[in-house]
Amino acid sequence: MIDELLQQQHYELPWQMGRCERLTIERLLGSIRPKLAIEIGTYLGGSLQVIAKNSERVISLDMDDSIEGKLGSRFPNVQFVAGRTQETLPKLVSSLNELGQSPEFVLVDGDHSVEGVRDDINSLLKIQPQQDMLMIMHDSFNPYCRAGMIAADWANCPYVHSVEIDFVPGVFFPDSYDTAEAGSMWAGFGCAVLTPAQRTTELKVEQSHRAVFNAVKEVSIYRVPSASRASQLMSYLRSCVRPIKRSLLDG
Ligand SMILES: C[S@@+](CC[C@H](N)C(=O)[O-])C[C@H]1O[C@@H](n2cnc3c(N)ncnc32)[C@H](O)[C@@H]1O
Repeated sequence: MIDELLQQQHYELPWQMGRCERLTIERLLGSIRPKLAIEIGTYLGGSLQVIAKNSERVISLDMDDSIEGKLGSRFPNVQFVAGRTQETLPKLVSSLNELGQSPEFVLVDGDHSVEGVRDDINSLLKIQPQQDMLMIMHDSFNPYCRAGMIAADWANCPYVHSVEIDFVPGVFFPDSYDTAEAGSMWAGFGCAVLTPAQRTTELKVEQSHRAVFNAVKEVSIYRVPSASRASQLMSYLRSCVRPIKRSLLDG
């Protein structure tokens, strides 16, 4: 019923994103209509089916080299690039810069480690934008992906005009669901806007839902024990060890 109200389309390929995210991607792509889009993280083709439908040409990168064999015939306007983006993405960016081409739309949804997300973004920030470029980064509510997004070298790229880590809010999973374990935090879109014109003001990386993120993290599997909790734990452990030590010495 809600899907009908939102006039959401039904997609054939499984798409690893929630309703809010799907709607956002559909509407953004529908208005941008990219000549060129780049996707990092093809997986089963879920997000690709929407990007490809709304773009003239797509370059989709994934470390899984079996993807082109499975999806290639479905997507005539997609060039599949197999390999780890740590190697493939810098090469792609240099060749686009040499050709004087840049994408209007980029989706970052590949390596979900802190370093992986940071390095993918940093490679993309070397693109020389020929026109406005929107970068959407998935899983900004996940503490590792979020840390990677925040650590990226935004300030040193003069073409970046705004960055919002909580463009679309994420989800807390109290129970396990699909690939999400119980107590985990996923989803959410970070968003950055780049233009060919250089920025003249200082850049602020916005986190409009930081308070919500921090509060949820406290009840999640990513909660870091505070110093006082750690010292309580240490004295408890010492109190357990003391009688054992004593009995060993007495014995
Ligand atoms: C979450 S899935 C992408 C989901 C897809 N965008 C969707 O919404 O349906 C992440 C994908 O990134 C790929 N990946 C992970 N680390 C990578 C890396 N270092 N280089 C290239 N691809 C990577 C995985 O093989 C996986 O297919």
